[in-house]
Amino acid sequence: MVLFFIIHTKCDLCCKDCFYSKGYEKRDSSELKLEDIELFVKKVYDLSFKTIILTGGDPLYSKRKYVTYALIECLKKYKLRVIINTSGAKLNSIDIQTLINLNVDRIDFSINSLDENIHNSERGNYQDTVFAMKSLLKNGYDKITTTTVITEENAYKALETLRWLKSLGIKDIRYQPLFKQTAQNYQIIRDAMLECNKEFGNSHSEYYLLQCDRAYNNKIPQENSVCMMGKNLFVSDALGNIYPCFHRFDVNFGNIFTDDTSFLKDKLIHNSFYSERHDCFGKHCVSLFDNGDFWKKEKVL
Ligand SMILES: C[S@@+](CC[C@H](N)C(=O)[O-])C[C@H]1O[C@@H](n2cnc3c(N)ncnc32)[C@H](O)[C@@H]1O
Repeated sequence: MVLFFIIHTKCDLCCKDCFYSKGYEKRDSSELKLEDIELFVKKVYDLSFKTIILTGGDPLYSKRKYVTYALIECLKKYKLRVIINTSGAKLNSIDIQTLINLNVDRIDFSINSLDENIHNSERGNYQDTVFAMKSLLKNGYDKITTTTVITEENAYKALETLRWLKSLGIKDIRYQPLFKQTAQNYQIIRDAMLECNKEFGNSHSEYYLLQCDRAYNNKIPQENSVCMMGKNLFVSDALGNIYPCFHRFDVNFGNIFTDDTSFLKDKLIHNSFYSERHDCFGKHCVSLFDNGDFWKKEKVL
């Protein structure tokens, strides 16, 4: 089982269309405390989670990264797989070495364009992100993935961006369309994705694009496709509340800190997301299913 952990909702950046800047998701002051790390990790381990994806906000937010480092150290003690989703903003050489020493299993950098002006107009701190990626690679750390969110504005340079990332030595290059509640020209984004698929596509790409189309056209998911959120992928906020998905904070399965482990484990296995289809499919899902793990073509229950 995989747990996305929103260690806090703070970030050094304020990306133009970020879920948080736009208010689709709410920032709050909750954050994992140093003194709670040991208990949190022990419980996560007992709940049978094997992979923890640290997200936010930004897990490497400059004022709180020391907590993330302590958390990773503890997660590694329990031999759990650790992935970080980050902007890579404000990391220095000591951070780079720390991440390497902690043996993080994957660091996923968000980068929207090889064009500094475009990237900065959408996200910011281009030079920081490039420094972090290049420094890790230079020091022999190659477990880097990148996520490029394709927008109307960066679409015309999307393929060039992916080629540039490849030339830097990044092997796992991902891309996804921007989710926006207001109108956007999806066709421009879709055309860019199609172009990128020809060179950077994988076995999942065609299926992913099809799902994006359906989401954007307000259709239900493709027949026989099963969303894995709430089945083997869960989301926890900084306070330890477990939800099925980033888009379903209305459903709370329980609390990692306060609930009895076997009670909570039972809830994670025997819940309606596990056994029934939920009709929450929508444009927001495009930010999740670029990864083959999120959707299964056949029912796997
Ligand atoms: C919310 S961020 C959190 C982790 C980290 N701060 C980062 O920048 O990667 C996770 C990913 O969601 C993407 N994202 C944010 N808002 C989005 C949106 N409206 N549509 C699609 N992806 C979005 C970001 O670009 C990033 O790749």
